[in-house]
Amino acid sequence: MSAATVPTLRIGSHEIRGRFALSPMAEFTSWPMRVLSQEYGAAFACTEMVKAKFVAQRHDETMRELRRHPSERLCGGQVCGGQEDELAAAARILVHELGFPFVDFNIACPIRRIISDGAGSGLLGDPPKVERLVRILREASAPAPVTVKMRSGLDEKNITAVEAALAAEAGGAVLIALHPRTARQGYGGLADHSVVAKVKAAVKIPVVGGGDMKTPADAVRLMRETGCDAAYFARAAIGDPWIFARAQALLETGAEPVGPTVDEWRAVFRRHAALLREHLGDREACLHLRKLSREYAKRLAESSAQRLYASLQKVETMEQFEDALAQIS
Ligand SMILES: Cc1cc2nc3c(=O)[nH]c(=O)nc-3n(C[C@H](O)[C@H](O)[C@H](O)COP(=O)(O)O)c2cc1C
Repeated sequence: MSAATVPTLRIGSHEIRGRFALSPMAEFTSWPMRVLSQEYGAAFACTEMVKAKFVAQRHDETMRELRRHPSERLCGGQVCGGQEDELAAAARILVHELGFPFVDFNIACPIRRIISDGAGSGLLGDPPKVERLVRILREASAPAPVTVKMRSGLDEKNITAVEAALAAEAGGAVLIALHPRTARQGYGGLADHSVVAKVKAAVKIPVVGGGDMKTPADAVRLMRETGCDAAYFARAAIGDPWIFARAQALLETGAEPVGPTVDEWRAVFRRHAALLREHLGDREACLHLRKLSREYAKRLAESSAQRLYASLQKVETMEQFEDALAQIS
């Protein structure tokens, strides 16, 4: 597909540049990862999911999770909930106080206590409620638009994605992102991409597909096979912000550029560490770098990867982090 033939995608008045988005992941996609991903071409991103109730109450921890960086291009605030008043209050705060350009409504979360609260994927089997809640969010966030993140259904006997997507569209959602696993699957088993095709065929608004997108080729194939308008990366983007640029190049030219050199890799990992330090302070940043080390190490040759992983598993100071990076050649 040449760039010239690709139709423009929008979230409300915001043009989406690129076809590959960063999907939210609790504890990973805080602003440092979003900034790096967007610099390498992620078309848009969202905060990790926060509870509407906690936004409405302005919980300290929730407000911290909602922090953004001025350089972020297009980042929605993702919220879950099942209560109209809480969702409306949260949407007003997200858009009118915190300045988010759109609100992403999560009806995908598979956590049992969220489902039993009538929120997250617990809403997938109740299309009229989805429509009503999306409308409430839209009214509260106007003029900022509302997007919806969803799953296939609660379990394999209740695949309700098409009905839920149609309800979201009827309520005024402007884009659907679909993780085509059931809530019961959690993150195991395989994503069923045929559900992406069905949702895309059913609604008029743009559909972003995902689930098990491990490589740029996976994401380009998903778009071709299902007709979805864009694809998202989640786990594969941890430690690999370059994946967005590689996927976009593959889509536009048919060829995937080679990954970063070791020097580029080091510069980006160092930058990620510096941004984490700014966001979390030294100690928490080091704990987070331990979690990132295995993912960043995947882009290195086997022996370097093992060495890096071993030293960063115990990292306690930024100096130790620098020493570990300096040893990679
Ligand atoms: C650790 C982790 C945290 C996640 N947190 C969220 C979240 O807060 N909001 C959300 O919509 N999806 C969340 N997800 C789901 C991802 O956005 C994505 O839909 C899912 O991982 C499937 O994509 P993948 O197979 O490419 O990883 C999370 C996934 C993981 C692995």
